[in-house]
Amino acid sequence: MSKITLSNNNEKKDEVDRIYNEPRIQLNINDLTFTYNAKKKFPPVIKDVTLEICGAQLVSILGPNGVGKSTFIHCINRILDPTEGVVFINETPIKGMPLKSMAKLTGYVPYSANDSFPLSVTDTVLMGRHPHSKIGSINDDLLIVEETLKLMGIEDLADRMFNELSAGQHQKVMLARGLAQQPKILLLDEPTSNLDIKYQLEITRMLKELSRSRNMLVIMISHDINIASKYSDNIIMLLDGGIYAMGKPQDVITSENIHTVYDIKAKVITDCDRPHIILVDEADDKHFDDEDKFSISKTCDHLNVAETQTE
Ligand SMILES: Nc1ncnc2c1ncn2[C@@H]1O[C@H](COP(=O)(O)OP(=O)(O)OP(=O)(O)O)[C@@H](O)[C@H]1O
Ligand SMILES: [Mg+2]
Repeated sequence: MSKITLSNNNEKKDEVDRIYNEPRIQLNINDLTFTYNAKKKFPPVIKDVTLEICGAQLVSILGPNGVGKSTFIHCINRILDPTEGVVFINETPIKGMPLKSMAKLTGYVPYSANDSFPLSVTDTVLMGRHPHSKIGSINDDLLIVEETLKLMGIEDLADRMFNELSAGQHQKVMLARGLAQQPKILLLDEPTSNLDIKYQLEITRMLKELSRSRNMLVIMISHDINIASKYSDNIIMLLDGGIYAMGKPQDVITSENIHTVYDIKAKVITDCDRPHIILVDEADDKHFDDEDKFSISKTCDHLNVAETQTE
């Protein structure tokens, strides 16, 4: 019995290696439905989603809070098993693939790392090499970690403890771990949400460049419509558990779609051939007429403390 299981596992591992070494990347999602608690008849979060993504590119997933974006990528990464439907990578169903070897195919960087391991940054990023680890590969893996830290501009953090970093530094380290994994498909849940504006731009641009240079499909959830629009090759917009719009940024980022999906008004202008949204506050005509009353200054020398206290 155990012999049969072993040989099946080895066959599947070989299959994963074959797919990993194929130059093409094709992700198919067929009739995907996911319900958190099917027994209790919870309504599905993802409903009948079918799509095909071909080629190494940067794809962004947009949509309002709670629409199912994280759930959707969890189904691609086997964190969740679809209630119905099948996910294929290069026409092979991912269901049943051994998890360790599957981690060569899909890397995942969660929204935030709750696990505050008492590990150094180098060791944290080294964990990304686990799917590739072989006897004697540690020096090669350490070299990849070093290169990845440099790529992310965080080599100065190498010896710091992961659980003593700021939120933005955490996010850069977790992204480095995903990149060190060198997967075929990299799934990122809001990878730049804690980063300053310079890093948001640099890292999103870098992800697009890496999709080409590493022949990797990068799928990124984002709430920053303008950055997604500036760099994504294609965008998927989710609404009510399904795909509302999908395609090139100029076809997806329209005032009408933004209004339907986010229930807000936005002007869309074009900058460098990419749509860029400007938010419109529907209450803009109702000005605050008391703004002049409030000030802020560097010193409070003029303040009469005694008077203020007795008031
Ligand atoms: N473990 C869970 N059990 C039950 N329901 C869940 C669970 N995780 C998420 N949900 C529900 O599924 C829906 C989709 O959640 P999901 O996290 O996928 O949304 P999201 O689009 O990623 O939102 P956000 O932009 O806020 O991250 C939400 O209604 C959420 O409350
Ligand atoms: Mg989410």
